[in-house]
Amino acid sequence: MPKAASRRRSRSSLERPLLSDTDGLRSEAAELSPRPDHPELHDPRDSNDYIGAYSEDIDHDENGNGNDSGDDDEYAHDYEHRTRRRVSFLDMVPSRRDKVSLGLIVIGLALFLPLTWALVLTANVRALGWFAPHPPLNALAITAFVLGIMPVQPPTPPAGIRAARLGVHQRVLLGIALPAMTIGTSCMYWNKHIHGAAHITTWHARFGIATFCWMWLQAAFGAASAWKGGAAFGGGMKAKAMYKYHRASGYALVALSLLTAVLAGGYSTWAISRGEQFVPLRIVAFGVGIPLVFVGLAMRVRPSKMKFT
Ligand code: HEM
Repeated sequence: MPKAASRRRSRSSLERPLLSDTDGLRSEAAELSPRPDHPELHDPRDSNDYIGAYSEDIDHDENGNGNDSGDDDEYAHDYEHRTRRRVSFLDMVPSRRDKVSLGLIVIGLALFLPLTWALVLTANVRALGWFAPHPPLNALAITAFVLGIMPVQPPTPPAGIRAARLGVHQRVLLGIALPAMTIGTSCMYWNKHIHGAAHITTWHARFGIATFCWMWLQAAFGAASAWKGGAAFGGGMKAKAMYKYHRASGYALVALSLLTAVLAGGYSTWAISRGEQFVPLRIVAFGVGIPLVFVGLAMRVRPSKMKFT
């Protein structure tokens, strides 16, 4: 038996990469039987069309570019490393860069969300009336928005993991981010209404209302391109061709929502009125936390998933 072939055979089943890579993917797909025993992993190979779906990702991505995977050098560089470790359920950190960026996002959110809540809860909440739920709920919405995007950022995996990632994406965004954004923004709007105050008078308010409306459109567009096989866009590859617009729009939207929060926490009359003692808190939450989230998210972007030509 040739040396290379015997080396391949002796590799333990747990050491095989489950995600797509640029090189050697077909040979890996050919190696996929018999099914290895992964106790913690919903094995995409449970699906009968696994190898077919896997190959389909390579040959017919939504951009029609012939390869939807292994799209950054670093990912390919980490290939050897990846063969030696288990692949986690959603494989959120396929490369070293993903690990660093995930760390930045987690630290950023851990500063932003609790400190925004603290800024409100340390005030006289009762006196704040309908305004009180606005910062906490909108900060929660941004947090869920960011967390919901994270699983779908790494390169396209085999069908089973891809479906699991999309499920998380939809549940977090539709189940938490959108309702929290809707209720939080409505409370703010209602608070101004019952006090007879003028609406949309600041840059925070303008960007805020734009974020709110755009988020609903974004969700509707995503659903139209994915639900019922993307029937609303003609199904199949026609619907898949819409994904890149959804991605690009999603990144612009999340950037706008982060900027909106910075304007509120950093520059709104209410935030400033909390006084000198809350300046350090506001700097850490909105001047450190949010930029960390932004950088972390940007580092995980795969530009090759958004080719428009
Ligand atoms: C992406 C998240 C957010 C969105 C979409 C948003 C949306 C809005 C909107 C639409 C208004 C204006 C309502 C009206 O004029 O009737 C508003 C006002 C306000 N928001 Fe937010 N908001 C967000 C996050 C925050 C955060 C995190 C804070 C606090 C740190 C905050 C504090 C305020 C304040 C103080 C006002 C009243 C002053 C103003 O109109 O600028 N907001 N927000």
